Amino acid sequence: MNYDIKDIGLASEGKKRIDWADNDMPVLRQVREKFAKEQPLKGRKMSACLHMTAETANLARTLKAGGADLVCCASNPLSTQDDVTASLVKDYGIPIFAIKGEDNETYYKHMKTAVEHAPVVTMDDGADLVSMILSDYPDIAANVLGSMEETTTGVIRLRAMEKHDALKFPVISVNDATTKNLFDNRYGTGQSTLDGIIRATDVLLAGRNVVVVGYGWCGKGVAMRASGMGANVTVIEVEPVRALEAVMDGFRVTGIAEAAQYGDLFITVTGDIHVIRKEHFAVMKDGAMVANSGHFNVELDIEGLTELASEIRRSVRNFVDQYVMADGRRVNLLGEGRLINLAAAEGHPASVMDMSFATQALATEYVIENEGKLDNRVYNVPNEIENWVASLKLKSMGITIDELTEEQKHYLASWEMGT
Ligand code: ADE
Repeated sequence: MNYDIKDIGLASEGKKRIDWADNDMPVLRQVREKFAKEQPLKGRKMSACLHMTAETANLARTLKAGGADLVCCASNPLSTQDDVTASLVKDYGIPIFAIKGEDNETYYKHMKTAVEHAPVVTMDDGADLVSMILSDYPDIAANVLGSMEETTTGVIRLRAMEKHDALKFPVISVNDATTKNLFDNRYGTGQSTLDGIIRATDVLLAGRNVVVVGYGWCGKGVAMRASGMGANVTVIEVEPVRALEAVMDGFRVTGIAEAAQYGDLFITVTGDIHVIRKEHFAVMKDGAMVANSGHFNVELDIEGLTELASEIRRSVRNFVDQYVMADGRRVNLLGEGRLINLAAAEGHPASVMDMSFATQALATEYVIENEGKLDNRVYNVPNEIENWVASLKLKSMGITIDELTEEQKHYLASWEMGT
């Protein structure tokens, strides 16, 4: 079997982490059992470009249990857990091409290997794999039945492809499933982003001015958790309704130019480019910390920051680079501006990835079941999948909920009864 990982000798540590995560992934486990029996992916070539974590390992095991001929590569150069990839290769026989800290050239070489596997189904976290297939491999694209996308950033890119007629196969937006974004984006990003920042810096959040840029589900989660830890949270948001929501959720809302002057910690979660720019870095306080938890590091204008700096002190702590301004002020960039939750911590905890990845696996089955019936556009996850995942999650938590009575069903379906 061909693979490229850091060190196969790390497998036993990785296996322990995969098992630990699996304990908190009961829904995905059930999907795995169902897949093992029904073999819905039997013999289908798949390539997955995802963060190579313990949670992803359990998804990969599930796809393999369903019969898929799977190859994986990383969706970010810094998010790979090298012990996990070792175990995936050694204990589960899944070819992996990913090494934590790989340079851009290696990152794309690994992705190319996953593309040249000639998958009929792909899975992406950021749409890099789909972009490569559509740009450079038209023959492979012609055979792709469908693809799944995990992130807001990826869905934005895919919708742009759809609009420009560049999308050559259907895509299921797993990111837009409520079983994904309400939990993974909100509670997962909320907790893991602060976890990454705290592991990288060891700072106390209570009493600090934390500026959260973006108030989508991820931003809401980060703002809520930072506030819960005693920070004074400011939200920066360009969409009026969301900005108003942030105001009524109790946060200070302003523009980045103003917040740049008083923030102690800046966290970007927008999915957009250069939301903190050179002119904002230029007015930051001494000791300001800047982190990104959006998919790509383009949210921060790192080139602009570099131009401002008279000195760059690399690795003043693990995952902290210090940019020193001409007047001596220091701006600390965390995790090279890459998603801090995966760079400096372990990403979202298993119990939220449980729902996202169960949804991914079931969406894969859906794409294969609907071979030839879907158009080349971005689809939402079918409601039945979402309801199934949510019901199983509740059940695994020991929670039972009421059902509508016949009278209530009738009432909801009628219009005659008023006051
Ligand atoms: N994205 C965010 N957290 C993750 C995790 N733990 N595994 C895979 N992808 C993730």
